[in-house]
Amino acid sequence: MVEDTFAFIIHPIDPKTDVSRKWPLVGKILTEGQINFFSRFFPPVYISEITGVRSVATGKELRGWFIACPFTPKTMLSLPVETVYRKIVACGHMAERLGARLLGLGAYTSVVGDAGETIARRLDMPVTNGDAYTVYMALEAVREAARRMGIDMNEASAAVVGATGVIGRVCARILADEVPELILVGRRTDALDAVHEECEGHRAQVSAGLDLRGIGSADLILTVTSATTAVIQPEHLKPGAVVCDVARPRDVSVRVAELRDDVLVIEGGIVEVPGPVDFGFNFGFPPGKSFACMAETMALALEGRYEDYSVGKHISLEQVYEIGDIARRHGFRLSGFRSFERAVSDEQIERVRDRASAARRTGGH
Ligand SMILES: NC(=O)c1ccc[n+]([C@@H]2O[C@H](COP(=O)([O-])OP(=O)(O)OC[C@H]3O[C@@H](n4cnc5c(N)ncnc54)[C@H](OP(=O)(O)O)[C@@H]3O)[C@@H](O)[C@H]2O)c1
Repeated sequence: MVEDTFAFIIHPIDPKTDVSRKWPLVGKILTEGQINFFSRFFPPVYISEITGVRSVATGKELRGWFIACPFTPKTMLSLPVETVYRKIVACGHMAERLGARLLGLGAYTSVVGDAGETIARRLDMPVTNGDAYTVYMALEAVREAARRMGIDMNEASAAVVGATGVIGRVCARILADEVPELILVGRRTDALDAVHEECEGHRAQVSAGLDLRGIGSADLILTVTSATTAVIQPEHLKPGAVVCDVARPRDVSVRVAELRDDVLVIEGGIVEVPGPVDFGFNFGFPPGKSFACMAETMALALEGRYEDYSVGKHISLEQVYEIGDIARRHGFRLSGFRSFERAVSDEQIERVRDRASAARRTGGH
């Protein structure tokens, strides 16, 4: 019987911290600039074998591998796209040699160029960028966070930042069916107009703009830009707001954590993986949890769907709902909330609610 296998490409996001995860001394000695520079000449790096991902529906178990593309987000944006493609394809060749039957593109490797189309064409193995399940799980997280903050989606104002991106656009379209008011934020008017048009004629009253101050009235904010530095600052948020940050690197400034104890910031797209999973590598999550894009790759392999799935700059609503069903059946679940690398407790959410009520009473923020 042919084994069910996959590989997933990761890459350093915070250069010093992430390089230290693999080579503590190198991460300690080199500066961020030096890491960015030297990473250009590095080959793909074998990181670890992944075992124990097991379907609750079929009992089938997967074997997988993490492979690192050595480039940081800044490097990927500054190099010619062809150079980046070549490095990702080299990672794909390593995955093929290891025996992987499906390749997942993590973080920026799914953002560069045409979001996986060229990579899929150049490799013999199928590819997915994980965006469909990332959308599905980000929206699940928003709904659950709203519930726990006492925000009724039927009365809420929601905003999508990065609404013209692959993930942002579909999130916006789905939210347009679920809330009465939707605010879209982007940085190009023409692209924003197109998303605005797609979202109109559904439940929400839709507005769109280039100014981030537009999110100041939103109860629920889903942010998913590919900016390399934080875009959402403390002054952008109203008391009691929920921000689901799907972006890697993060869109929400750490200043929000420091200065705003009356808002709830959660990381979007964190998933509980079924089975006694061992990733063989600490990528910064507690045991048994993964990013949604990793989970999409695993769910497809468990389903035996060895085909290009989320590839390119467009994903459909059908894909989002289909991968949601596939993943749920195999036992993938929304994980507990995390915020700036820490788990969020019920008590913390209670505290945010109290502070938000107090801030509203005193007119703070
Ligand atoms: N958590 C997960 O599991 C997961 C999975 C996949 C991806 N991601 C992350 O999700 C993010 C978006 O991915 P994507 O595939 O949707 O990317 P994308 O299609 O390239 O879209 C990015 C969006 O961000 C906007 N943007 C870029 N730089 C900006 C800046 N400096 N300020 C404001 N807006 C900016 C872009 O605007 P323009 O349209 O004007 O260019 C676009 O709307 C990335 O950070 C990626 O790493 C996370």
